[in-house]
Amino acid sequence: MKTLVVGSGGREHALAWKLAMSPKVQTVFVAPGNGGTEADPKLHNVPITDFGALADFAQREKIALTVVGPEAPLAAGIVDLFRARGLRVFGPTRAAAQLESSKAFAKEFMQRHGIPTAKHASYTDPAAAHAHVDSNGVPIVIKADGLAAGKGVVVAMSAAEAHEAIDWMLVDTANQLGVQHNAGGARVVIEEFLVGEEASFIVVSDGRHAVSLATSQDHKRLLDHDQGPNTGGMGAYSPAPVVTPNVHAKAMHEIIQPTLAGMAAEGTPFTGFLYAGLMVDDHGQPRTVEFNCRLGDPETQPILMRLKSDLFDLLMHATDGTLDQVELKWDRRTALGVVMAAHGYPLAPRKGDAITGLPPDADDAMVFHAGTTMQDGTLVTSGGRVLCATALGDSVKLAQQHAYDLLHGIRFDGAQYRRDIGFRAIKR
Ligand code: AMP
Ligand code: GLY
Repeated sequence: MKTLVVGSGGREHALAWKLAMSPKVQTVFVAPGNGGTEADPKLHNVPITDFGALADFAQREKIALTVVGPEAPLAAGIVDLFRARGLRVFGPTRAAAQLESSKAFAKEFMQRHGIPTAKHASYTDPAAAHAHVDSNGVPIVIKADGLAAGKGVVVAMSAAEAHEAIDWMLVDTANQLGVQHNAGGARVVIEEFLVGEEASFIVVSDGRHAVSLATSQDHKRLLDHDQGPNTGGMGAYSPAPVVTPNVHAKAMHEIIQPTLAGMAAEGTPFTGFLYAGLMVDDHGQPRTVEFNCRLGDPETQPILMRLKSDLFDLLMHATDGTLDQVELKWDRRTALGVVMAAHGYPLAPRKGDAITGLPPDADDAMVFHAGTTMQDGTLVTSGGRVLCATALGDSVKLAQQHAYDLLHGIRFDGAQYRRDIGFRAIKR
């Protein structure tokens, strides 16, 4: 059968790589894909991004299953459009994707359904937002409502930082690179600061049932020891030891199940990958920091490297509503991925640097591509996060060594990467 993956990042390269392993899958198209999906003889890039044209392509090619990677097309309703055309697609509808695309929607939803999360208030009036900070003190968290590609969150340790963030998000809107406002214009959500360790908890949902994927932990800051600006993610590993069996059970019972039941009860059942960003406190209580309506990037790369089950079968069950029949098998080893980012990432990533020294692909060692493209026969950088060197090992330490061994042969000018991916798990 033929499948289509929508997107061009490392997450989509990993999805396509894993789908291609299924004996039931003959062809995997990736739209638009990247330099890595282009180089893989089992994958085929399709230079289409317009949803209508993609649906035409899916109909013409008799695509059995389309999987959508990133949040933007989901929030814009690609799933609604494919379904209306009778095409099988895995992802949430536009209405269900609001769990990620509107922080205000997500917070109000969690409040309605008693799902553990930070206390919050949301404002469109700057004076009221400033007053909230004055009466609650710091640390405090200020978030722009709407998709902001990971840049719309300020964890303010001082009052000055908090006030500045409010002005940036509500007053100085002309300077907001990349923030997409929801209806009603600029809005901020102000949250209580949660203390603990973060983990990515991702499930596959058919609207009623959920199957959890292996747990993972992302490293969001640019520099070692969690310093520097926030990024989309500089590396990840799976499993995340902070998610003990007890924390896992709580996350399923207190967060995932009430979320799926609540979305169904409100007439917007959630089908797709549901990603709960958890903050786990010292007592093992998880709280929801955020929801994403998709897989994480780079979490997907180590997670899928550990998946032993057939991804195509899993997603067919998910689109048939029969996930209650599925049990997933996982490699017991740890997988760890280190992102190599371009010069200037995250603010102003440079493009066009030639990449050399890529190791050959292997089942336990893959360099997934993100911001790469082929230019006159040469692989060059074309985006912020360029590659993710991902490998398996019998311990976190061994997986880390294996991933860095892959990475050390790779060269491009201005490459940035962290040297400490996995440090929290190694410290335990
Ligand atoms: P978000 O985009 O909502 O996931 O926020 C990005 C990052 O900011 C999270 O991964 C956390 O590290 C941090 N963060 C967000 N909300 C909170 C909170 N309420 N308390 C502490 N840290 C937070
Ligand atoms: N790596 C975090 C995310 O995908 O949102």
